[in-house]
Amino acid sequence: MSKTMDRKTFLSYLGTGATALAAASAGLGVLDGKASAMSATADHLFGFDTNRVSGYFDPIAPTDADQLVLPKNFRYDVVAAFNDVINPEGEKFGSGCDFNAFFPIEGSNNRGLLVNNHEYSTIFSIGPVLNDKMTADQLHKNLYYQGMSVIEVYRDEKGVWKMDTKSKYARRINGYTKFEFTGPARGISALKSAATAVGTFANCSGGVTLWNTVLSCEENFAETAAASGLTETHYGWVVEVDPFDKSYLKKHTALGRFNHENTAMGLAADGRVVVYMGDDKKDACVYKFVSKGKFDKSKGRANSALLEEGTLYAANLKTGKWQAVTLEEVAKAVKGKPELQQKFKTQGDIVTYCQEAALLVGGTPTDRPEDIEISPFDHTIFICHTNNDNHGNIHGHITRIFEAGNDLGALEFDFEIFAAGGRQSGFSSPDNLAFDSNGHLWVVTDISSSSQNKGIHKSFMNNGLFVIPTSGPDKGKALQFASGPVECELTGPFFTPDEQTLFLSVQHPGENTKDLSNPTSTWPHRAGEKMARCAVVAVSGFKLGN
Ligand code: FEO
Ligand code: CA
Ligand code: CA
Repeated sequence: MSKTMDRKTFLSYLGTGATALAAASAGLGVLDGKASAMSATADHLFGFDTNRVSGYFDPIAPTDADQLVLPKNFRYDVVAAFNDVINPEGEKFGSGCDFNAFFPIEGSNNRGLLVNNHEYSTIFSIGPVLNDKMTADQLHKNLYYQGMSVIEVYRDEKGVWKMDTKSKYARRINGYTKFEFTGPARGISALKSAATAVGTFANCSGGVTLWNTVLSCEENFAETAAASGLTETHYGWVVEVDPFDKSYLKKHTALGRFNHENTAMGLAADGRVVVYMGDDKKDACVYKFVSKGKFDKSKGRANSALLEEGTLYAANLKTGKWQAVTLEEVAKAVKGKPELQQKFKTQGDIVTYCQEAALLVGGTPTDRPEDIEISPFDHTIFICHTNNDNHGNIHGHITRIFEAGNDLGALEFDFEIFAAGGRQSGFSSPDNLAFDSNGHLWVVTDISSSSQNKGIHKSFMNNGLFVIPTSGPDKGKALQFASGPVECELTGPFFTPDEQTLFLSVQHPGENTKDLSNPTSTWPHRAGEKMARCAVVAVSGFKLGN
């Protein structure tokens, strides 16, 4: 097929139109920096000035097949699956794959480090748990298989993506890895005076920093902490790791402690670092952290110190204001309430019990804010509000925030419902997000396994991956790109800088399995075995635009 035909196909399916593409590539007036085909991982955080096209696909129809279904002319390679050996030391790939970030090695789009989060264990990783009580072996596996993996991946001469198990970088980070606390909660009594924590787990989504490290988010940590007798307040933080430096392991308490979904980092107009964060809980707030100091590219990783001091805000959607979650503001809110005054005595206490503090200062409870991404084109903020059956938001929606003056450091904003889940849009329960260089949002869905393929969720069938243009005549329309295997959730979409490969996680296929001899999914259908494995795949088949 010729390039002209490809473009025509693309335009007919994504309906973007030349005008919208021009507007998108012109950045709607706020572009800064550039991304090139050989750019580093974080370059897209500075904005795109290119007009590559990740589209060109015939949308697929929903399906309940136990397969990862892609549009025609696209294919995938399983790069790493649960329990695969990842390095010469024999460490194993974890369970519950989620966030992915690809870091080119020497600028290559064909070889790099892939950082993957492992959110939780499944019946396939620890076996059935009897009477809700894990055995000692299960407790060990539960800590071992959660956390993160750093693996080295490459595309061979035939175009197949593989894991390089001889890698000197590949390693596990898990429930046994020691982290250093930074920020206001380090050493406080609520953390049992600890300056370090043992382990990270429940690592859901995450984000990359402007200095090319990874922020990984501890989400539903409580169960594992309780089962293993660990100090609960040591978990529920944002952790930072450097894929190329195994000694670098931090938990940044200034970013608050809650059910962290992901981070989206950008720059305020004056150069301060801004981090948007979702709290995946029903009736929870949307947050942003604004650093005290300013970003200096020449300082590289030392910019990480910016995450140790700054102001945490929660969004008040009724007033369009970012409310400071600070000692000063909380003190005003708890006047005359001695019990709360006792609880919130320092900024460390406030970040440790952040969910309560944010509501006290006027943060608006919302419908499970999961992934947040900053548009690289216009600095608007996209938030997946996955769903909330507490008040009838069954299919969720994507909220778009417009910061005052297009400045990520602003204290006031407006917002719109950019897209709503439901029959009319063809998707339900949006979760993780990624932007391509044309301003299209790639959105994965998280209909719970118990709801999939029945009742009001029947028409959506298995969870999928959708592409939604953010400008042009098809703005807000969802086109399905992938459908996951039975009872899975697709997670962690992440493009290589040249957008020729999309890394994607397949999380918890066969989640409802009760009997290992009779699994509800056997994806990825490895020869000779009858089990489902969480895995990361590399999707190929993208064509460049011009
Ligand atoms: Fe781990 Fe909010 O999904
Ligand atoms: Ca998620
Ligand atoms: Ca989710």
